[in-house]
Amino acid sequence: MAGPVRTVTVRTRDAHYDIIIGSGALAEAAGRREVLSRDRIALVASERVYALHRDYIEAAFSGLPGRDLFLMRDGEENKNYRGAEPFLDGMLAKGHTRQSAVIGVGGGVVGDFSGFLAALYMRGIPVIHVPTTLLAMADSSIGGKTAVNISAGKNIIGAFHQPALVLSDTRFLATLPVGEYGNGLAEAVKHAFLGEKGLMDLFLANGPEDARREEVAGEIVYLSSRFKASVVERDEKEEGLRAILNFGHTVGHALESYMEYRGITHGEAVAVGMKAAIGISARLGLLPPDEERMMREILDRYGLVSPGRSFPADELLEHMRYDKKSAGGLIRFVLLKGAGHPVYNQAVEEKFIREALEQIGKSGG
Ligand SMILES: NC(=O)c1ccc[n+]([C@@H]2O[C@H](COP(=O)([O-])OP(=O)(O)OC[C@H]3O[C@@H](n4cnc5c(N)ncnc54)[C@H](O)[C@@H]3O)[C@@H](O)[C@H]2O)c1
Repeated sequence: MAGPVRTVTVRTRDAHYDIIIGSGALAEAAGRREVLSRDRIALVASERVYALHRDYIEAAFSGLPGRDLFLMRDGEENKNYRGAEPFLDGMLAKGHTRQSAVIGVGGGVVGDFSGFLAALYMRGIPVIHVPTTLLAMADSSIGGKTAVNISAGKNIIGAFHQPALVLSDTRFLATLPVGEYGNGLAEAVKHAFLGEKGLMDLFLANGPEDARREEVAGEIVYLSSRFKASVVERDEKEEGLRAILNFGHTVGHALESYMEYRGITHGEAVAVGMKAAIGISARLGLLPPDEERMMREILDRYGLVSPGRSFPADELLEHMRYDKKSAGGLIRFVLLKGAGHPVYNQAVEEKFIREALEQIGKSGG
């Protein structure tokens, strides 16, 4: 059972686009005007995903006129500013014009990179995302943030460039490694806590094995997409509300940078960050104890935080003080006044952060 193919439409001030979600969604490409109306297509695909799904990808795109394949090496280190130039040169050499479009096939790395290429090429051509990780389907392909890294930092250079179309084909997920799946689940759980009640119910009614079944994954992607679309529609350029999507990321980013991006996945770092934010919310009397328990139980049930792991509060606080979210000298959090009621830009006293981090170490909670 693979579940239905469904559509979520995103309506921002600058763009309207469909996200088509489900098993076989890729086949829709051949009939969509966003694809057919372009003279040429630059197909930017992850090397790994292309090797795993070559026939399936070719079946969807081989009939398109003027299609050129550009393979991208996987890994965050390849999502960089200097790496963009050979792709842009290659597009020019193949005769791409303003009537071309970029189609990015891969995880969030390829999505961010291909969106960046499209935002720059000849001052901007359309990008179509074909996300192939759960994180890219549930989160990064939606909302038009594109970015590359420079030596001074991650995601420093980029543009808001909304996609023309997103094709979230859940068939790709069959080959996704478990750890990568967890990265996407953490972001979907975040959407559940922030306000997508359907996702909250889904996570409470299922377990980690269910979440890998294609029809359940399709539901997770659909509900997550619907939620992220609703936030992006209200705040396209992250001027306010969109900041709620950083829930769990104040501590999450500090943890990743403290661990130098080794030995912890992004999903686990965000899950630890959510536990900390939940703990702080409860300590400040914002989050009722039964909701706090329910959220911790979801994070544990899906194995998003390894049991028995502890984290040094002093070092993490040090990293948080230097992070951009601490602008103004205070460390700022997205907190919860109950499930579905986030409040952003909340300055939190360090003693509450310390207590919440120590609780994770002590009880696994
Ligand atoms: N633009 C945004 O709003 C936004 C939001 C969140 C994250 N991001 C960015 O997304 C990136 C992380 O994305 P990600 O978690 O998808 O990582 P990723 O793109 O690095 O993919 C993870 C790994 O999975 C492999 N892979 C992809 N699809 C596969 C499949 N179907 N089967 C088997 N292997 C597959 C990739 O080759 C890679 O090795 C980061 O660069 C982050 O900055 C962007």
